[in-house]
Amino acid sequence: MSGLRFPEGFRWGAATASYQIEGAATEDGRTPSIWDTYARTPGRVFQGHSGDVACDHYHRYRDDVALMKQLGLGTYRFSVAWPRIKPDGSGPANTRGLDFYDRLVDELLDKGIDPMVTLYHWDLPQVLEDRGGWTNRDTAYYLADLAAATIGRLGDRVRTWTTLNEPWCSAFLGYGSGDHAPGRQDPAAALSAVHHLLLGHGLAVQALRAGGAREVSLTLNLACVRPVDPNDAHDLAAVRHIDGLHNRIFLDSTLRGGYPQDMRALFARFGVDRQILAGDEAVIASPIDLLGVNFYQPSRVRAGVGVDCGPANPGSEGCAYVQQDLPVTAMGWPVDATALYELLMRLATDYPGTPLMITENGAAYDDVLDGGRVADHDRIAYLDGHLRAVHAALSEGADMRGYLAWSLLDNYEWAYGYGKRFGIVHVDYDTQRRTPKDSARWFAGVIGRNGLG
Ligand code: FCB
Repeated sequence: MSGLRFPEGFRWGAATASYQIEGAATEDGRTPSIWDTYARTPGRVFQGHSGDVACDHYHRYRDDVALMKQLGLGTYRFSVAWPRIKPDGSGPANTRGLDFYDRLVDELLDKGIDPMVTLYHWDLPQVLEDRGGWTNRDTAYYLADLAAATIGRLGDRVRTWTTLNEPWCSAFLGYGSGDHAPGRQDPAAALSAVHHLLLGHGLAVQALRAGGAREVSLTLNLACVRPVDPNDAHDLAAVRHIDGLHNRIFLDSTLRGGYPQDMRALFARFGVDRQILAGDEAVIASPIDLLGVNFYQPSRVRAGVGVDCGPANPGSEGCAYVQQDLPVTAMGWPVDATALYELLMRLATDYPGTPLMITENGAAYDDVLDGGRVADHDRIAYLDGHLRAVHAALSEGADMRGYLAWSLLDNYEWAYGYGKRFGIVHVDYDTQRRTPKDSARWFAGVIGRNGLG
């Protein structure tokens, strides 16, 4: 396969997130987020790394935008730091916090790059966590307040708005397995967080509409969950449960008007159904214009006795993840682009009518900077394979609107600290020098010809 072209107007770009790149953790009125706290808790993050400095993007954003321009990016997806804009979590907005994003947006527009703003990419103000975080219904309303304050300042220039990034991670890694901030391990809390995140999403959609948003979206990390034996009813039931937790709990509630029955039953089993009030599901289903899909790896599950899929998957007794015989990235994540194709076709079939955009896709590898160059062939192969999968889905009718690489820069990879590099641009954390990797040059070529050579 060669010479694949994407449709005219297909959006190309890269993504980042506030806590992963900004640094300037205590500047201009920013207060701690749950990730500042988590990073400081011994044993939580690789070598105790924190986002205190990260890529120092807060001070170097002009150079970073120049770099984006050099690579030909048409879209830049970034998130705002809630504790910069609302240092008390709720209440009045901090002008100096908003000023930063105002400058960034102007700089992007000046370089002809379309800004795509995510309101929440995991950095909840610690003051809100102290009041229960996403297990507290109030947090959903505060997210809508954040939306209103942010669009109030940037709405005249920003076209595309995203409420949440990957609520699955916020809820199930944050409150279920504890692998992410705030590090709680309580299945009921995780399910409560799911509902309040989704309620917050719906309320934020409404606030963004009221603020004049032209395009409103939600980004999910959706999974292609496959059975070990597609003819085994038990394996299929295991797939269904994991699919419910990763996909349908988010997709049915936002795109079909309500939670699926099996997930309703799961909420009830953990006593969380009481938190789903009359009218909540209608709010959650507030229409969106675009669904962002983040995709990294396939999953395979089987049924079994005495097994489960771990604390990130409440109620998964009798289901187990199985190791897949595939090449892996530096994260140990299996590589299989056919799973992305399958996922996109499933979305096109089961949830028609919502345009799709890949808002994150990419891979960490153990890059070597040698003589000013990073020859990251593995990453190029990964991106190329996944872009071919996107193109195949497009050709078969999936309404694909764009593709954003994760990530523009090497950055703070959450609990892995700076130990994992996902950037198409290498960052030397001692000098903050940026070096476009071979993959960045390759990606610039793809963008330039709107296709794969
Ligand atoms: C996603 C996150 C993003 C980054 C990538 C590797 O789950 O949204 O911030 O960590 O994984």
